[in-house]
Amino acid sequence: MDSLCIAALGVRLNAHAPFSKFQVGAAIEDVDGNIHTGCNVENATYGLTVCAERVAVFKAISTGARKFRRVVVAADTDVLTPPCGACRQILWEFCGDVEVTLINLHGKSESFRLADLFPRPFDASFLS
Ligand code: THU
Repeated sequence: MDSLCIAALGVRLNAHAPFSKFQVGAAIEDVDGNIHTGCNVENATYGLTVCAERVAVFKAISTGARKFRRVVVAADTDVLTPPCGACRQILWEFCGDVEVTLINLHGKSESFRLADLFPRPFDASFLS
């Protein structure tokens, strides 16, 4: 298992998920090889919950990283957990057509291009 997968599995254990009990970890590798991690952080109002993927993206952006190569999403499901729609939008805007690898705790994994998970996206190119 590579270091990005290990990072996603590790940060998953930090999930703040008292309501769903569903822990998710995400790790993003930037073009310099740095790894940025995030876990889901839930909120008592439910709607303010932020998914692991978006936490990882926003953490990465806040450190100054701008170009990304790979994303790994880790969850404890037999059917591998994909990013939700909101996270696909954010991943598309900040990472473009990156490789997205889904993994579980038993070492099962599958990789996709984000463009296949998120076809015909809206993004900033429509605003110009
Ligand atoms: N969640 C993520 O963090 N990422 C996903 O890809 C799917 C869902 C979180 C949000 C919420 O805290 C919990 O999982 C249940 O939806």
